[in-house]
Amino acid sequence: MHLSLQSTPLHEIAADWLVVGVWEKDTLSESVAQLDAKLGSLIARLREQGDIVGKAKELTPIYQPTGIAAKRLLVVGLGPRDKADFAGVLGAFAVMAKSLSAKACPRLAIALPQGSSLSDEAVVQASVHGLFQGTSTAGLRKSKTERTPPDAITLLASSASGSLHTSLRRAEIEGRAANLTRELVNMPPCDMYPESFAERASTIANQVGLTVRVLDESQLLAERMNALLAVACGSDRPPRLVTLEHRLGGAKPTLALVGKGVTFDSGGLSLKSTEHMIDMKCDMAGAATVLGAMQAIAELKLPVNVIGIMALVENMPSGKAMKLGDVLKTRNGKTIEVLNTDAEGRLILADALAYAVDLKAANIVDLATLTGACLVALGSDVAGLMTNNAGWGAKVLAAGEAVGERAWQLPMFPQYREMIKSDVADMRNTGGSRYAGAISAAKLLEEFVADVPWVHLDIAGPAWAERENATRESGGTGSFVRTLVELARTY
Ligand code: BES
Ligand code: MN
Ligand code: ZN
Repeated sequence: MHLSLQSTPLHEIAADWLVVGVWEKDTLSESVAQLDAKLGSLIARLREQGDIVGKAKELTPIYQPTGIAAKRLLVVGLGPRDKADFAGVLGAFAVMAKSLSAKACPRLAIALPQGSSLSDEAVVQASVHGLFQGTSTAGLRKSKTERTPPDAITLLASSASGSLHTSLRRAEIEGRAANLTRELVNMPPCDMYPESFAERASTIANQVGLTVRVLDESQLLAERMNALLAVACGSDRPPRLVTLEHRLGGAKPTLALVGKGVTFDSGGLSLKSTEHMIDMKCDMAGAATVLGAMQAIAELKLPVNVIGIMALVENMPSGKAMKLGDVLKTRNGKTIEVLNTDAEGRLILADALAYAVDLKAANIVDLATLTGACLVALGSDVAGLMTNNAGWGAKVLAAGEAVGERAWQLPMFPQYREMIKSDVADMRNTGGSRYAGAISAAKLLEEFVADVPWVHLDIAGPAWAERENATRESGGTGSFVRTLVELARTY
């Protein structure tokens, strides 16, 4: 997919498809009105007849249009202009890209939507992310691909300024990063396990100029990451902890991004049912999100210091697996009683977060497909946000808001700490009841971040799409890559 920017009049563009947007119950924007003049007012007539309404995500294909150079025309509904936002534009472009990439469309030309309150930069950003989302596929192992992304995409703007070119380059880097995250999450767990993830991370690090460090079992032992090692015990696949460093911020403070990378979560001895286990290759989405974001941050050469920490294990039952009642001594010395081996994410993150603190992180964000309880609380499209620092929490929420990714804050009142009290250890790894399950998990994590401002994003819902919809295929969604990059940019 090669993306470029032009300011050619729409009717002159030779393409397999020319895409233009129309706002709901609104006049045609200037460039579309000019195009429509060449079309003998076809679009205006279709509007009068009620065939084109402009409702969000409405698609009206027009085959063999006359009077313009493009072979086919696609009119995309953008919804009401006064309600236009990042997620809306992204969604409209994703629907369009998903529809067009179902068949071959070598040359695609798209008129960027005009006239909303969004900045040109945001329009480019949202459009390109929609294109990447709509053309990405979960069918990595199909013998014959069912999705064909366009070879060349031309974005048409009223003026192709230098700053718009910069926006395009940035959007392309981020779009590719989100697709990397989607791809990693969609990989089958027979191919995506701690060692193979770490190898992929190393390859990427070398390509984009990140410093990489991979800890194996003996190094993890030397680093006292006993909780992480305990989770890995049941598996034949050895664990890894990958650290990526991006240091272009000079003496500025360091932001740490920490990801849960359970490449398969069977539940361990607290074995999941088939129904609950079926999608558990997605349990490394936090780590995949961190890797995607680190790739983009490096390629964008952002003038900041960011480290990405990915805790990689497979959670399996076996004769060597950790048992219920086991007590683990974590990296920071605190002890955890294991009462459910399926609450494994918080165990590996305990060590990874303590490691981030020891690496002198000034701020931490962790991302984890941590609890089904978060899905119960917020549904599948919204992440749970928990923090020990209101200001830092607000910054992360604002970054998500700016790029159309939704998180909602859940409380961390001190009383919740009682849920994880243990009779035998400093804490236990379950809340003891089904109530406030996302929060009791976060309360355990909080024990490992010392006093560093920290945000926990429970992405169990948004990281993974159980079903396909008009804007994307099912599977890994790549969500929160944009938020992390935005956070690094504004850090
Ligand atoms: N990986 C799961 C959480 C999950 C559930 C992610 C659904 C994505 C979709 C996690 O390791 C887990 O199993 N959590 C348990 C915790 C419980 C045993 C305290 C859960 O949510 O049931
Ligand atoms: Mn689990
Ligand atoms: Zn898990």
